[in-house]
Amino acid sequence: MDNRLIVELLQQHLARQPEGLMLRIRTFLALRQAILDGQLPPGTRLPGTRSLSRDLGMGRNTVLRAYEQLFAEGYIEGLIGDGSYVSEALQRVGRHPTPKRLVGTRREGLSRRGGEIAAASSSSRIQRGAFMPGVPDTENFPFAIWRRLLSKYFQPAQSHLLQYAHGGYGPLKVALAEYLHVTRMMKCSPRQILILNGSHQAVDLCARMLTDHGDRAWIEEPGYWGSRNVLRAAGLDVRAIPLDAGGIAPTPEDWEAPPRIMCLSPSSQYPTGVVLSLERRLEVLEQAERCGAWIIEDDYDNELRYHNQPLASLFGLSRTQRVIYVGTLSKVMFPGLRLSYMVVPEDLVDAFSIGNAELFREGRMVDQAALAEFIDSGHFTAHIKRMRGIYRTRRDILLDELGARLGNSVRVSGGHAGLQLVYLFDAPVDDAALAADALADGVVVRPLSLYYMDRSRSEPGLNLGFAAVPDELIRPAAIKLARVVEVHLEKAARRG
Ligand SMILES: Cc1ncc(COP(=O)(O)O)c(C=O)c1O
Repeated sequence: MDNRLIVELLQQHLARQPEGLMLRIRTFLALRQAILDGQLPPGTRLPGTRSLSRDLGMGRNTVLRAYEQLFAEGYIEGLIGDGSYVSEALQRVGRHPTPKRLVGTRREGLSRRGGEIAAASSSSRIQRGAFMPGVPDTENFPFAIWRRLLSKYFQPAQSHLLQYAHGGYGPLKVALAEYLHVTRMMKCSPRQILILNGSHQAVDLCARMLTDHGDRAWIEEPGYWGSRNVLRAAGLDVRAIPLDAGGIAPTPEDWEAPPRIMCLSPSSQYPTGVVLSLERRLEVLEQAERCGAWIIEDDYDNELRYHNQPLASLFGLSRTQRVIYVGTLSKVMFPGLRLSYMVVPEDLVDAFSIGNAELFREGRMVDQAALAEFIDSGHFTAHIKRMRGIYRTRRDILLDELGARLGNSVRVSGGHAGLQLVYLFDAPVDDAALAADALADGVVVRPLSLYYMDRSRSEPGLNLGFAAVPDELIRPAAIKLARVVEVHLEKAARRG
């Protein structure tokens, strides 16, 4: 190939390279692009470095370095003194002037599991504002204290904290064991505590360590989409068991085909806020023992109770070691911290610790050390206490405003704990359409139907988060929402 043609080609490619890069990198990229596009086919002899640098108006070393890089990555063969040739191995690459799409709109490049995960998409990008559920207030977080603790542990004298955190940070596990003993009547040793990056990871670890592909799993209906998606992604046959006023209500027939694992939120069912009755707790524990099922107790926001102390855990009630307790710091600290903890029965400790290390490689010891001191020095309980007061006021403003505007056309479920509450409609309202209309008006709500696996069973309603909405913004947003609700109630009445 004529050297003049090669120079022209390279000038065109050089002009397309990002300006900020060093000239030798741009030259390398230009040559590589010409080779990959097939404009410099395999076997082509490249010009000598002296002549090419002169023709391109750049230093010889620049071209030399670009050739060296091409040689190192296998694009050219032959030593520079003997002439450099485009590698014959590139015959196999073929020409792809436009990159081929790997994953099309029908997601044909994904596995069946990957396609299902991608199609599930229940999490929301919106993480603030009235009335996104499940979101804590982060403006009132004690930034100064947390910053001081982080900097205390993030320094050369503590460089061991930058290593992998095999088994979690000891003092944090001691602090959590004590905290759980006092607040949840749980007797556990620090050894039984595992630290993870959020509850999703905890559920994932349980699924991997306690179930096999195709095993049956139960979740609550309606229930937390996060657990549902994680269990499904683990290849489990997920069945949703409807609730009644006492919480999850499996029928005798359900127990005849028992699950290997079940995910429950007994202290405050998500999203309805229903508390699992004592009778049902005992039934679930007894049946789990009988059929060898494991119970994951998702205790995500029990600290934030507005009228009484946190409820005792199912774990504490169980004498048969069938319960794995999962707590998270997402609601009482902040979600981006991505720290959760698990308490596993004594007999599972060794296997789960190995599983956690092998599958997820623990880290974040600086955060764990800061958190341990945050708990030990009383800041944790003080923060929770303060936020409980703030959230309670916000909940009351919301209840007051919507109560005044919507009266008997809605029923409230939950709200005695946590960051959100549910409004239920007796009329056949299309809650997804309502949520879309509210969003168009600037108000975020989550339709209750989103939390059902079998949508044909779904009761219409709205899940509303009040915790992260400043007091003065609650009423105006509630007024807007009430107007949208009224329109949908009228539509439902017309539908009959
Ligand atoms: C029922 C339930 N469990 C757990 C979590 C928290 O998950 P994570 O600890 O992964 O942030 C949430 C968050 O919304 C939730 O609603």
